[in-house]
Amino acid sequence: CGIVGYIGPKTASEYLIEGLRRLEYRGYDSSGLATIEEGGLSVTKTTGRIDRLAEALAKNPPDGSVGIGHTRWATHGIASDENSHPHLGGDGSLALVHNGVIENFRPLKEKLIALGYEFLSATDSEVVAHLLDHEIQQRLAEPTTDGGDPHAPLVEAVQATLAQLRGTYGIAVVFRDWPDVIIAARLGSPLVVGVGKGEHYLASDGSPLVGFTDKIVYLSDHEVAVISAGALRVVNRDAGHISHVVKRLEIDASQVELAGFPHYMLKEIFEQPETIRAAMRGRLDADQATAVFGGLNLSPQQLRAVDRIVLTACGTSWHSAMLGEYMLEAFARIPVEVEYASELRYRNPPLTRDTLLFALTQSGETIDTLAALREVKRKGHPTLAICNVVGSSIAREADGGIYLHAGPEIGVASTKAFTSQCVVLALLSLYFGRLRHLSFEAGLRIIEELRALPEQVEQALDTNNICRQVAAKYSSADNFLYLGRQYNFPTALEGALKLKEISYIHAEGYPAAEMKHGPIALVDENTPSVFIVPHGPVYEKVLSNMEEIKARGGPVIAIVDEHDSRAAELADDVISVPVVADFAQPIVSVVPLQLLAYHIAVLRGCDVDKPRNLAKSVTVE
Ligand code: G6P
Repeated sequence: CGIVGYIGPKTASEYLIEGLRRLEYRGYDSSGLATIEEGGLSVTKTTGRIDRLAEALAKNPPDGSVGIGHTRWATHGIASDENSHPHLGGDGSLALVHNGVIENFRPLKEKLIALGYEFLSATDSEVVAHLLDHEIQQRLAEPTTDGGDPHAPLVEAVQATLAQLRGTYGIAVVFRDWPDVIIAARLGSPLVVGVGKGEHYLASDGSPLVGFTDKIVYLSDHEVAVISAGALRVVNRDAGHISHVVKRLEIDASQVELAGFPHYMLKEIFEQPETIRAAMRGRLDADQATAVFGGLNLSPQQLRAVDRIVLTACGTSWHSAMLGEYMLEAFARIPVEVEYASELRYRNPPLTRDTLLFALTQSGETIDTLAALREVKRKGHPTLAICNVVGSSIAREADGGIYLHAGPEIGVASTKAFTSQCVVLALLSLYFGRLRHLSFEAGLRIIEELRALPEQVEQALDTNNICRQVAAKYSSADNFLYLGRQYNFPTALEGALKLKEISYIHAEGYPAAEMKHGPIALVDENTPSVFIVPHGPVYEKVLSNMEEIKARGGPVIAIVDEHDSRAAELADDVISVPVVADFAQPIVSVVPLQLLAYHIAVLRGCDVDKPRNLAKSVTVE
């Protein structure tokens, strides 16, 4: 879900709508706005995309200069107008938007119903709105001694409300009778405040602020922001003021525009030569034949002592983690485990004393990844993040880390973040390798192979036309298999996930040989198998697996390298990418898989950048 807010001299809804559009990738089941108008609170909500909200508002544009907005990814309750945010508290004394999940909403709801509150929605968020109203009414009935601060009862009521909540939240509230303030608070769901001249903006991340202000304050967990047009005050949820730091927002407008591409996903696929360059910039040290990183915050001695690495992530990031395992083990001979963050957070695996954790995440906000990181950190292990979004929750909570510098990724299906993560993991493997057994010559060779990559990815993008033709041939299939071995097993998983996410075709990624143990039952003339089969130690083996599919009448699409001839003879369709080092094969081979998924989804009329049911950052469990 995404949150925005505005308070200042301008018409609030203009920023609110624009901000919601930029946050739409966080969820788009429904959206809504609340502004303070002459006659009180005005609330508009619609199901579906922000465009529908904008249309609804166009008929009767609100001109208030204070307001909040929300775009929702449904957790409790279906996507309906009632369940959309903002929710009103009490008799409409306040409007509230909420991200996250309130776990104890049932007992709180019962208590509030007993107090006479009526609920219009099935959401956990409406509970927070009524609870806050209840706390405010109690304070108004017994005025405090603090006559100096007109917002004191509100702040105290917010603090008292938050103290009763179990779960996660990012919230923002506007009050009918206090039109000069927005109060926001976070625990587990990100919030930032944009600082303008005589105005303040609120958002779930920095992207809505672009073009409005470049001064940003990142709120931390347990913080409550009291925001008026001219002042920002941050207090702790429990007590006491917190001094906040205003930073510079490091996103520029061109990064959040389509730049002539029909979809963000296609734009981001084509950005990969440049984003890969950015991931390596300043990090290759040919004199020492190693990689260098600025922000690990651990000494080479501490890193040398590491005897086990755990890589944790969700979704696409989990796929790059798998490639990371293969590379770290091959280059550095360190045992590596890859864990789904949602599993790791509730498991209690034995970790050796010198285990190091890496959390991989594009957004830096995935709640399961954050929770897994916290759990391992609590046990005293160093935690590092490999992350794209600067200043995100995971980037800030980890002991150190490496940024991808890939720029904002807006398409919900991850593309450039994946290849950048793979590159950063290759750099890390080189670094750990050079701390241990990897020779100078081997290190240097890897550096040369990495340096060649941006150009090779550029060439892999030349497959766009052929990918479009292959897509047209198979776009009506109901099932796909993606098969690869060794370094290209993660590529197969990622290719299948891309297709599933954006075209809604069932696809499974498997180690090519493992498909004999089940998935081969799916094979018939309508089930294409995509083989990732560049030259390498397992080339012959994968060819045999291909024969097995052909023998059962299954069509084969082969992603091969330029030196290939034999796979091409067997396959029905061939897509050729440059010859690269074996560890780098996924980085070039994934490009045609991204393009294939993209063109199939376009041909099927799917909403490529905002596939149904998904959200870019899943900030709920
Ligand atoms: C969501 C997105 C995926 C992404 C995953 C992990 O499910 O739809 O594209 O891979 O979250 O996100 P992260 O930001 O942690 O990499």
